[in-house]
Amino acid sequence: MLEARNIMKIFRSEGVETCALAGADLTVESGEFVSLVGRSGSGKTTFLNILSTLLSPDSGQLLYRGEDVTAFSPARLNRLRQKDFAVVFQFHYLLPYLSARENVLLPYMKGMKTVPAEVRRRADVCLDRVGLSGKGNKLPGHLSGGEQQRVAIARALVKESSVLFADEPTGNLDRETGDAVMSLLAELRDEGLSIVMVTHDNEYAAMADRMVAMADGVVG
Ligand SMILES: Nc1ncnc2c1ncn2[C@@H]1O[C@H](COP(=O)(O)OP(=O)(O)OP(=O)(O)O)[C@@H](O)[C@H]1O
Ligand SMILES: [Mg+2]
Repeated sequence: MLEARNIMKIFRSEGVETCALAGADLTVESGEFVSLVGRSGSGKTTFLNILSTLLSPDSGQLLYRGEDVTAFSPARLNRLRQKDFAVVFQFHYLLPYLSARENVLLPYMKGMKTVPAEVRRRADVCLDRVGLSGKGNKLPGHLSGGEQQRVAIARALVKESSVLFADEPTGNLDRETGDAVMSLLAELRDEGLSIVMVTHDNEYAAMADRMVAMADGVVG
């Protein structure tokens, strides 16, 4: 489904070079749930951002369904990001002036066009799924941190993507809410979604089909 080969990434800022990835490899099968673990600074977020095409590698290959993503046209790359790939960030990036439902609908909001009723209904189904029934009209500021994180997950679900990338999706949640998010991810995997999740939580990491450890910018 997704294959990264020998990915290198060096950050340069203020004359300092940091080698974040030094030849990282990963293969994710269709419907597979992979957890990515490793110490702070080992390159997990950088790798996840490259896998989800939000960041370009300095070198290496990224293949999606056998095709080299770096050779995609900008239009094709946009379609990939809009449809096939969904991302849940460590910090959820909800827009504060949009309701929970509108935040979920963000991938569908284009200019001033109204979102079709059927898509709006799907947003409510996704909010139900993450346990936020009836909270669609609330602004993020009126939701708890855990509820906001779940809105971000609902936003990733609404697109019915093939691969979900999640960077510490339970990082800011209490145990109970974290457990609920993890069961949801397991359910989605059972429905055929491929998942790559970064986590510092060993128990949650072990719930994936495969646990992959990173150290110093490589997969161990
Ligand atoms: N934009 C950037 N500019 C410069 N250096 C960066 C940048 N982003 C990351 N780095 C460096 O690259 C290395 C890997 O960072 P990354 O964020 O991938 O680590 P991580 O494994 O996700 O850590 P954490 O568990 O703390 O989130 C770190 O040494 C970090 O300081
Ligand atoms: Mg990180």
